[in-house]
Amino acid sequence: MADRTAEKRAAAARALTEVTPGMVLGLGSGTTAEIFVELLADQVAKGLDVKGIPTSERTRMLAVRRGITLTSFDRHPQIDLAIDGADQVERGTLALVKGLGGALMREKIVAASAKRMIVIVDAGKIVPRLGAQTPVPVEIASFGAAATVARLEAAGYRPTLRYGQGTPFVTDGGNLIADCAIAAIPDAARLASELRGIVGVIETGLFVGMASTVIAGGPHGVEVLER
Ligand code: A5P
Repeated sequence: MADRTAEKRAAAARALTEVTPGMVLGLGSGTTAEIFVELLADQVAKGLDVKGIPTSERTRMLAVRRGITLTSFDRHPQIDLAIDGADQVERGTLALVKGLGGALMREKIVAASAKRMIVIVDAGKIVPRLGAQTPVPVEIASFGAAATVARLEAAGYRPTLRYGQGTPFVTDGGNLIADCAIAAIPDAARLASELRGIVGVIETGLFVGMASTVIAGGPHGVEVLER
């Protein structure tokens, strides 16, 4: 059986070799990105000088706890390198589905502000075509959420409002998530733009043209995919 944690760790360790002193880093969210933050913190403790912009409150707290200096978009509007996980990676295009952890909006803002985005995953996340394996998370405004979900339903996107501990899951930005069970995604850019056109939709978990490198840890080592 695949040791997913070891695979994630191998991918995170390889990504760390791309970090150089003085960089401003986008710090991703999720279990794989957290392994990267832990490995980065070990190097910071040994004197590596970098600054981070976290993609979630959870990552912010981890980075602070582990002694990584944080910065802001006001001070650094451009990020040198964003490192983040993903839920699905399409082989070839490196289009992504992200957001099962609920941090997709901040993740996309950080990715869009980065000169380069490296995605770190276990090999099970690499798919020939996006869709089916996981839903597409869509961040929606909490105001009128039921109406937005109804519009997503009417458009055929099969949304389910995400819940956590009995109440709707609330993102760091104070919004809600509708997970859309979309079976096949032949054109991720088109789907992203159609979803963004629905009133009440704030952002989607489809990241198209953003990842330049994907590092996938697998049972036989690390595979590096470039776009
Ligand atoms: C967080 O919102 C997500 O985009 C994560 O990056 C994604 O869900 C991958 O998480 P894991 O590394 O925990 O699988």
